[in-house]
Amino acid sequence: MRVVLGVGGGIAAYKSALLLRLFTEAGHSVQVIPTEASTRFVGIATWEALSGHPVSTSVFDAVDTVNHVRLGHEADLIVVAPATADLLARAAAGLASDLLTNTLLMARGPVFFAPAMHTEMWNHPATQANVATLRARGAIVMEPASGRLTGKDSGPGRLPEPEDIFAAALAAAAEAGADKADQAAAPYSGRLAGKTVTVTAGGTREPLDPVRFLGNRSSGKQGAAIAEAALAAGAQVRLIAAHMEVPVPAGVELVQVETALELRKAVHAAAASTDVLVMAAAVADFRPGENAETKIKKRDDGADPVITLVRNPDILQETVQRRAESGTGPALIVGFAAETGDGSASVLEYGRRKLERKGCDLLVLNQVGRSLVFGQDTTEVRILSPLDGPGTEPAAVAGSKAEIARHILDRIAEELDAALPSV
Ligand SMILES: Cc1cc2nc3c(=O)[nH]c(=O)nc-3n(C[C@H](O)[C@H](O)[C@H](O)COP(=O)(O)O)c2cc1C
Repeated sequence: MRVVLGVGGGIAAYKSALLLRLFTEAGHSVQVIPTEASTRFVGIATWEALSGHPVSTSVFDAVDTVNHVRLGHEADLIVVAPATADLLARAAAGLASDLLTNTLLMARGPVFFAPAMHTEMWNHPATQANVATLRARGAIVMEPASGRLTGKDSGPGRLPEPEDIFAAALAAAAEAGADKADQAAAPYSGRLAGKTVTVTAGGTREPLDPVRFLGNRSSGKQGAAIAEAALAAGAQVRLIAAHMEVPVPAGVELVQVETALELRKAVHAAAASTDVLVMAAAVADFRPGENAETKIKKRDDGADPVITLVRNPDILQETVQRRAESGTGPALIVGFAAETGDGSASVLEYGRRKLERKGCDLLVLNQVGRSLVFGQDTTEVRILSPLDGPGTEPAAVAGSKAEIARHILDRIAEELDAALPSV
């Protein structure tokens, strides 16, 4: 689901960081919208780092995307926690004085408030009237918990525990049918029936000796999500898995590999009998020139060991080349690139250069940086094609790795459909 997490200016704002983690760890994509006051309690940097999305309090940021309209329309669920007395009043009055209240007015999905304030504020007839108004309009307003409040006092008004808000908000979403967005596989379900999709995933490990290796931080999450989405689309799926930190999806034909050279062999073997090859694994560019038969020992003379690295073959480029030479192989070869921009070229420019160098049919460009860290649940990609006209800027799509996987699979299905001769 796409969840908007509104954060009000209460002392309990910090607890929403835990709530955010519960949503992201469950695979949901979360856009945090704090109020200006709440940033006095928890800063924007915290929300951006934890959610993997840029965060703003104002309708006047990212005006080109008309943020409040997009966020309100796209949200499958809006959760406001903590909902201050002020926010409940503004929402009940229909005010649109910041990004959060504008988004609330644009909401199409369920809206859920978890209030937190002093007992007197909660019991005040004005607050109670606002709560009644919101509930009458269909919003869900949780009862606050009872217990220790800011300072020494205690009573009703405490923010419920993040786990309780999470469970109640998910139940509200399920009730409203909003969680069905998770099953958005439906639009393309069966679209890849009869096709074989081979996905490489995880990170290779290049041995130095029997106990040590050079590895990378790839978790295999994106590759596993692509394999799952391909299964949901009806394809027969082969997963060439290097080291993965996530479970292998049930239903795939698994080929386990360790090193770049093993992965290369498995890809070449699979290439002849697959319609689509998705190269999502992080393959080591270099491997130690020697793989010692026995454990490398500390030397008595105190000299430091020297490791010479040699280049691994470029498996993606090679597979494209073999297809061109033999005239057989996958109809569609999809590469992945993680790039950062610098002074001399943008992320997109580097992506285009890579696409040209590799010669694949599609390149999924990961924008490394704030929104992408290995192992994170959310990411942002653009899909580049050699057929993109000059000056075209493929749209950036952000979301959970499951959402991105569905987006990639949709594009793959479109490309395969377009390649069919028209009758
Ligand atoms: C230390 C401190 C704690 C506060 N805690 C709360 C609270 O728990 N609930 C609440 O409704 N207001 C609380 N307030 C008051 C709000 O910050 C204030 O009403 C603010 O205007 C709310 O703005 P917002 O609704 O746009 O976030 C607190 C203020 C301070 C200084």
